[in-house]
Parts: sequence; C-alpha cells; structure tokens
Amino acid sequence: MDIAIVGAGSVGKALAGALKRAGHNICFGVREPDAEKYADLARDYRIAGPSDAVTACEVAILAVGWSAVEDVAGSIGPAAGKIIIDCTNPVAMGKDGLGLTLGFDTSGGERVQALLPQADVVKTFNQIGAEFMADAGRLSPQPVMFVAGDSEQAKSVALALVRDVGFDAQNAGPLTQARLLEPLAMLWIWSAMKGDLGREFGFALAR
Ligand SMILES: NC(=O)c1ccc[n+]([C@@H]2O[C@H](COP(=O)([O-])OP(=O)(O)OC[C@H]3O[C@@H](n4cnc5c(N)ncnc54)[C@H](OP(=O)(O)O)[C@@H]3O)[C@@H](O)[C@H]2O)c1
Repeated sequence: MDIAIVGAGSVGKALAGALKRAGHNICFGVREPDAEKYADLARDYRIAGPSDAVTACEVAILAVGWSAVEDVAGSIGPAAGKIIIDCTNPVAMGKDGLGLTLGFDTSGGERVQALLPQADVVKTFNQIGAEFMADAGRLSPQPVMFVAGDSEQAKSVALALVRDVGFDAQNAGPLTQARLLEPLAMLWIWSAMKGDLGREFGFALAR
C-alpha cells in the first residue's frame, strides 16, 4: 500500500521502517523536502511536501507534534476520501509537567476529523513509545494497540497496518473512543518518565 507519513521525527521514522519491512511504499511529507537533513532518509524513501505526499497515497499517517496539527491539516486538506491515521497526542507542558490539553468531551482525534471533514480519521499508534513502533517484537507478550474510528472500512485498513508492524491490533470502537486512547497514552508517558517502569514496556491484553 502507498502510505504518506507527515512528519519525519521519532514516530514517523519508526513507522516508516516497520511498514517498509512489511512491504509498504512510504513517502514522507515534510516542510522542506530538499533540505540536507533528509539526505539519509531520501536513500530509502520518497520525500515530498506534505500535500504532494498525501495526494499520492491512499493512507496518510499524521506524525507531528500537536501544536503543528492545525497547520498540517491546512496544508494537506481537504484530503477527501483519504484515510488519516492520527498518532498525535494533544499534550503540552503545564505547571505540573506534561499533560493533555483537552479531553472528556472531545479528543485530539476528533479535532483532526473536524479539521479534515472529508477524510476518514482513525486514532492509533499513539499508545506506546516510538521505539516499539519501529520494532514491536522487542516486547513479550505482544503489545496491544487500540484503533478507534468511525469508518469501518478505514478502521479495517488501519487494523491491518497495526498488525503488519507487529501489534495485537484491537478495535476500540468509534472515534470518540480517542477520548480514552489519549489518556492511555498519558499513562504510558507518565509511567515511562516519572513512574518505575522506564520506557521499556507496553500494554498487553491478558486473555
Ligand atoms: N515520540 C513518541 O514516543 C511518541 C509516541 C506516541 C505518539 N507520539 C505523538 O506523535 C507525534 C509525533 O511525535 P514525535 O516524537 O515523532 O515528534 P518529533 O520527533 O518532534 O517530530 C515531529 C515532526 O513533525 C514535523 N513537523 C512539525 N511541524 C510541521 C509542519 N507544520 N508540517 C510538516 N511537518 C511538521 C517536524 O519536522 P521539522 O523538522 O520540519 O520541524 C518533525 O519531523 C506527537 O504528536 C506525539 O505526541 C509520540
């Protein structure tokens, strides 16, 4: 499948490697595609502007910081008919440290859907550190990755991609369930940064 990844940071690069190994074609969407800092990436992937990358692909992964989401949506929109996989977490530094900037009655996923109403937004790849998106097989038992979205067709595509990179992919219901998946990400972040677990863990299901 042709997949655009908007953002070439920790998450974007991790998912690019794992999805490429699974046989997918990746095109990065970045602000300065000709910049020297992308010379290494350009050996393995196509690099384009965000709009060109998304236009050329069936699926686009949003892997930018929350503060850039509105800007990115403006540059890739309307993305009509595209599947947008939103891995962002709406976090910012507050007086008590890093925390969610919204929740309970909306979510980052729903905000992205509101910014791109003609696309099908799916929330996933937000619940674990980027290093495990590069290689989920480092963890045992297999880590879970929940997937939430309103379009069943878009969600089934996202579930397959999540499975392709090695996670126990679980349907978490409609996009409003991003209101639960973003706090779950905060639990991972808190446990990794301030708790006793360190970054070397993920969540898994006991059956
Ligand atoms: N890191 C993790 O472990 C992790 C795990 C789960 C979810 N997340 C979430 O995933 C998202 C990405 O995290 P990250 O750690 O990969 O961030 P990062 O390493 O800071 O990378 C962010 C990328 O976004 C790009 N970017 C910023 N503004 C842009 C714009 N207007 N248009 C296009 N690209 C733009 C940056 O490119 P420039 O060089 O051009 O600035 C950079 O490559 C965040 O929302 C984060 O909360 C992170």
